[in-house]
Amino acid sequence: MKTQSGSRLVIALALMTCGWSRAWAQASPVSIEEAEASVRQQVLKQCFVCHGLQGESASDKYPRLAGLPAAYITAQLQAFQSGQRPSETMIEIVRAMSVSDMQALGHYFERQGQAGRTTSIQ
Ligand code: HEC
Repeated sequence: MKTQSGSRLVIALALMTCGWSRAWAQASPVSIEEAEASVRQQVLKQCFVCHGLQGESASDKYPRLAGLPAAYITAQLQAFQSGQRPSETMIEIVRAMSVSDMQALGHYFERQGQAGRTTSIQ
């Protein structure tokens, strides 16, 4: 009898753990919509001031980000953070940034493609 109640306990525990892990799995990965909303917020808060809302950059002082490969953007942000690529401006921006934020920003700007390109009248 003792073993039986013991195994019931194990089954009960296993079921509970399953339930918990399922709830955790649903809550834990950030949905694409959430990730995009958070990227848009970051862009609106910081990047757009210098690089433009779509990374289109209207000034020679700030590099154009629209259409750059996401992997390149992520690598540059990591390089700013590590100091490998020195920039007094960008180091402040990336100081507390996580790699997943950098990747999300990279994808955002890559998708902006030809944003802000004007047809040249020459
Ligand atoms: C205050 C102005 C400013 C803000 C705000 C800013 N940047 Fe920059 N960014 C710069 C400048 C200046 C450079 C050029 C740095 C250098 O190479 O000296 C740069 C360079 C970059 C580069 C490298 C581009 C290339 O062609 O290699 C990336 C990527 C970048 N910024 C992303 C971002 C992102 C993402 C944000 C928002 C989270 C952001 N920046 C916010 C000024 C800014």
